[in-house]
Amino acid sequence: MSIDLQEQAKRHLWMHFTRMGAYADAEVPVIVRGEGCYVYDEHGKRYLDGLSALYCVNIGHGRAEMGQAAAAQAAELGFYTNWSYAHPRSIELAARIAGLAPGNLNRVFFTSGGSEAVESAWKLAKAYHTAQGERQRHKLISRNLAYHGTSMGALTATGLTALRTPFEPLTPGGAHVPNTNSYRWSEDRDPLWAADAIEEAILFEGPDTVAAVILEPVQNGGGCFVPQEGYFQRVREICDRHGVLLISDEVICSWGRLGHWFGSDRYGYVPDMITTAKGLSSAYAPLGAVIAGDHIAEPFLHGTAAFSHGFTFGGHPVSCAVAMANLDVMEREDLCANVRENEGAFRAMLDGLRDLPIVGDVRGAGYFQAIELVKDKGTKETFDGNESEDLLRGFLSGELYRRGLICRTDDRGDPIVQLSPPLIAGPEQFAEIEAILRPVLSEASERM
Ligand SMILES: Cc1ncc(COP(=O)(O)O)c(C=O)c1O
Repeated sequence: MSIDLQEQAKRHLWMHFTRMGAYADAEVPVIVRGEGCYVYDEHGKRYLDGLSALYCVNIGHGRAEMGQAAAAQAAELGFYTNWSYAHPRSIELAARIAGLAPGNLNRVFFTSGGSEAVESAWKLAKAYHTAQGERQRHKLISRNLAYHGTSMGALTATGLTALRTPFEPLTPGGAHVPNTNSYRWSEDRDPLWAADAIEEAILFEGPDTVAAVILEPVQNGGGCFVPQEGYFQRVREICDRHGVLLISDEVICSWGRLGHWFGSDRYGYVPDMITTAKGLSSAYAPLGAVIAGDHIAEPFLHGTAAFSHGFTFGGHPVSCAVAMANLDVMEREDLCANVRENEGAFRAMLDGLRDLPIVGDVRGAGYFQAIELVKDKGTKETFDGNESEDLLRGFLSGELYRRGLICRTDDRGDPIVQLSPPLIAGPEQFAEIEAILRPVLSEASERM
């Protein structure tokens, strides 16, 4: 059976973001089963899932009650849409999300995933401004290196050149500003200059043409860039001053990833909209959402007004039932608290690797942390493209996986190793991560 899987994967499966040629002479990693923080491949080998299956499986793998919730829902009502109709699970889940979301974010527009949520939030920002008599506000400002998805609107927000250029021209109206990666900032740089750069961009674009700014609480692309103290408060002021909406893209940073229901809770700001997905259902079923403030929904609640936008599967009843069961687990086991209690130990373990010559920076928040790898710690010199290719694809990612650790090695910015374990992880898993990371990074230091 496993030979068949390999042959059929190579012959028929189009893997996402994958150099499929790399598997011409190598096995496709086929993950067949999961339990807690661990997954197993087709040979029965166990891996610590230090990435929660792409920042998704917040409650951990193998929870049979998720399947039971899905089965019960399928038996009761397998599908109905949220176009003009509603069904109990989408209503209940929307109310539950509203109860957890910050400020007046009480209105939930469901999607099937993160890109659709970002796409929807941008369109909603435009529709909102149009309803306010400001049809000309259409632009979206986002940050360099940020990943916001791959559909054409979301890709326009994405600030990764290599992902964008092959598909240009993109949606008109995207603009990019600096991110908050302070690793190479000079000591005397104003800590809020990256926030102020957003105001400069708004002024440059023409404030009355800008619809929204979209930012992650902690930026994934480039490796867990945390905001400076006061960053989001400054951004909020800037957005308010210019009538621009603030979208908090929490596709990764919500549902406990940073130790709170929402990343915006951790940093103490209230956006106009939150985009979310992944951990909302812990990915036991596909689901995303835009959570909008009452003031954003208000123009669409009267007369003939409507937000002319939707997806057949947005708020699928089975996905909503699974998300309800997921939130039950999160509440019952108080997983946000588990992250808050253990993130110090997680971070201390990673900071402990700073004695290795290749470890330049360690950054992140909660269970969302990255190590930046450098050629020279003193000068913070990074690896060039070929070196990074050798380091990450030629050695690190294969070796970490071979030793049983799934994490992310990425060089879309400077080279990083990123960890985002399930929220049930604790000291035992941190020790296991260290036992693999330390020797592999030591060897990488020597090789480079
Ligand atoms: C911040 C952010 N926004 C949007 C997306 C796109 O989500 P999806 O892959 O579900 O379309 C991602 C995916 O990782 C993300 O991290």
